[in-house]
Amino acid sequence: MKIAVLQGPNLNRLGTRKPEVYGTVTLPDIVADLDVLAGEIEVELVHFQSNHEGAMIDWLQSLEGEIDGVVCNPAGLTNYGLSLRDALNECGVPVAIIHLSNVHAREEWRRHDVFAEIATVYFAGAGWFGYRHALQALLSKIGATR
Ligand code: DQA
Repeated sequence: MKIAVLQGPNLNRLGTRKPEVYGTVTLPDIVADLDVLAGEIEVELVHFQSNHEGAMIDWLQSLEGEIDGVVCNPAGLTNYGLSLRDALNECGVPVAIIHLSNVHAREEWRRHDVFAEIATVYFAGAGWFGYRHALQALLSKIGATR
């Protein structure tokens, strides 16, 4: 079982970026935590973060036929990233969308998430721990929980 974990624009700055909204946990902290969980449940994770939509799409396409699911925080692309949305929708495996913050309780423009309708699993507002929930829920949907 191999799951891609894809992180969008500005998430490289987690920890220092708006800690009152996103918390103080860094992206390397999240990656390390997910890798520990993955080790416990014998799942392989591959990680990627980019500030560029095309680079995210290239990475996803390069994994075609190799992965069983995707956990993605589209971050700054959430409201208009239709190319990434199409790439996720067409990658042939279930997708979990995760947002650290509750985007539905924030500014009006953040509330329309173009990724929501292609998501098999959707988590928002659980902070960094949401990544754990998203991974476990995705595995459960795939039928891979042990
Ligand atoms: C985010 C929410 C988005 O609105 C924002 O642009 C982000 C992070 C979140 O994880 O809460 O970059 O996806």
